[in-house]
Order: sequence, then C-alpha cells, then structure tokens
Amino acid sequence: MALDRFGRPIHYLRLSLTDHCNLRCVYCMPEDMTFRPQDALMQDDEILRLVRLFSGIGFDKIRLTGGEPTIRARVTELVREIAATPGIRSVTMTTNGILLGKLAADLAAAGLKRVNISLDTLDPQKFRRLTRWGRLEEVMEGIRAAEEAGLTPIKINAVVVRGYNETDVVDLAALTREYPWQVRFIEMMPFGGATEFQLQQTIRAEEIRARIEARLGPLQPVDGGRLDGEARLYRLPGARGEIGLIASVSQPFCASCTRARLTADGVLRMCLLREKEIDLLTPLRRGATDETLRRLILEAIWQKPWGHGLAAGEIPVNRVMSEIGG
Ligand code: 5AD
Ligand code: SF4
Repeated sequence: MALDRFGRPIHYLRLSLTDHCNLRCVYCMPEDMTFRPQDALMQDDEILRLVRLFSGIGFDKIRLTGGEPTIRARVTELVREIAATPGIRSVTMTTNGILLGKLAADLAAAGLKRVNISLDTLDPQKFRRLTRWGRLEEVMEGIRAAEEAGLTPIKINAVVVRGYNETDVVDLAALTREYPWQVRFIEMMPFGGATEFQLQQTIRAEEIRARIEARLGPLQPVDGGRLDGEARLYRLPGARGEIGLIASVSQPFCASCTRARLTADGVLRMCLLREKEIDLLTPLRRGATDETLRRLILEAIWQKPWGHGLAAGEIPVNRVMSEIGG
C-alpha cells in the first residue's frame, strides 16, 4: 500500500463519474452552473485503466461520486467492471438519491455495496429551496429502493446551512429512532465564488449536537466517540440507527485521511480543500505508459498535503464541490 510522506496509508479513491448534476443545491453550485463538455470527461475505458492502476498501487476502496454519479451513461456497467477489478474490495456511491428508485436494484446486482444519500430536510418546501429543483418524494423513494436492494447500512448525509435547515436537524436525527440508518450531519464548507455562502453560515457540529440534544435528549457516544471515517458517531437512547457528526471545518480529520480524489476530467486531487492538482488524463491521452502514470500517482500521493486553512479563511476557489466529487 502506498504511504504519503507523513506515513498515512492512501488506499481510498473517491472517483467522480461526472461533474453534471440533476439538482442545484445552494451550497454546492449556482443555478446557472456550466458543466464540462463530455469529451473533457474521462471515457469508460480511461476510467477503467486508471482504476486498474490505482488498485495495483494498493487502493482497495472506491467511492463513486459526482456531480451526480447516477446520471452517467452506463453507470451500472461501470460499477460492474470496477467491482470486478482485482484488488478492489468495496465500491460504494454518494448520490442525491433521485434516480435510485429506478437504479438501486441494478446497481446492487452489479456489485455496488452501499450508498450515502444526501437529504438535508424532511420538509418538501425546504427541500426544494435547498436543492432548487428537487422533489423530496423522489429521494424518499430512492432510499426505500436502496434499502430493498440491500445497499445497507443506509447513510444519510445532511449539510447544515444557517438560514435554511438548522432547525431540521431534529427531525432528521429522530429518523434514527425508527430506521437503522446512519444520519450524518456535515458542516458546510464555503466554496469561494460559486455560492453566496460564507464561513459564518457554517453551523458547527457542536451547535448541531446541542440543537438535537435540546429536543431529543442526550446523545450517547458509540465506541467511546471513535471516528468512523470522518464521522463521530452517537446514538439516541434506544434508537435503531446512529447519528454522525462530520466536523470537517471545525475539527479537520487530516491525521486519519486515507483518500485521494480523481475528478471526472481525470485530475488527481489529494486534498479536497487544497488547490493543487495532478492531471492524469492529458498524459494518458498523449500515450503515457502505465509505468509513467503509476509514477505520477505515487508522486502525488507522496506530496499529499496535511491540513487545510478553512478556519483561517483560506478557501479553495479553483473548483466547487461538484467538480471535485465531495
Ligand atoms: N459543504 C459540505 N458538503 C457539501 N456537499 C456539497 N457541497 C457541500 C459543501 N459546500 C456534499 C453533499 C453530498 C456530497 C456530494 O457533498 O451534501 O453529501
Ligand atoms: Fe448535485 Fe450533490 Fe451538488 Fe446537490 S450537492 S447540486 S445533489 S452534486
């Protein structure tokens, strides 16, 4: 397995299948977002070649992201081929859930293990305000389909934005009493230029926790408050599911970061919040050998940054979330 210069094992690839999306969440992109043309995005064979190279370096876990990964043509076939790549032990997906009603069973059959579904509120009007275009009912259908298809445990991702859904965390947290889901609350990251949001609109995990506890009672730490990936896990007394707090802004989890990100246009980004990028698609299209590409990837891993500057007001501006893959 490849180590970076801080000794972190890097073996988790977040692979963006497209920067396009069928929603326009206010914290993610402007309503008139322009996307990259199709020929700027990796083609299926280019994705699969890079996946084989990453697995050869020791990557064993792949999360498909977007934009919205389910709107990529032939997504099911891609999942099947990625899941069948030697060395890849788990293929998961982060999705807005809109198309899961149609796709969940096929994706599961193709080898997808689990899904994280974005859902920021249970109120249909607020859902529309946050996503600009979305219908809550479609997401709820998607969650049901994912559960039936065995894409479990279901994880729900809620980004909390002041002025939009800070009071909705209570109803979302209460879902865990009834359903065996992990409902995760994410501190909003301000992305320069693309959205009107500022750091002041980020609701810190501490405040989210206080809002939940004020209405639903004390949260019990799961496993002594250990980090599960990026989330600190809690449980409401007697609940079937868990609550996760993801404090990306207030308490960065860089020490335990094992990730690399490959954008839909074939650029390797070693930190979500640092602008440095390593282009893999251009050399690939110019005929680079596997060995050359492998060396580019290993060098990028070695140079993986430590620590972001969000709390100090350093905000990345060269790409928004949907262009990186979250
Ligand atoms: N801050 C935090 N999370 C975000 N996402 C999109 N934009 C932001 C932001 N500004 C999340 C979505 C989804 C994943 C793709 O990224 O909610 O869970
Ligand atoms: Fe699309 Fe996800 Fe961005 Fe919303 S947060 S616009 S669903 S990529």
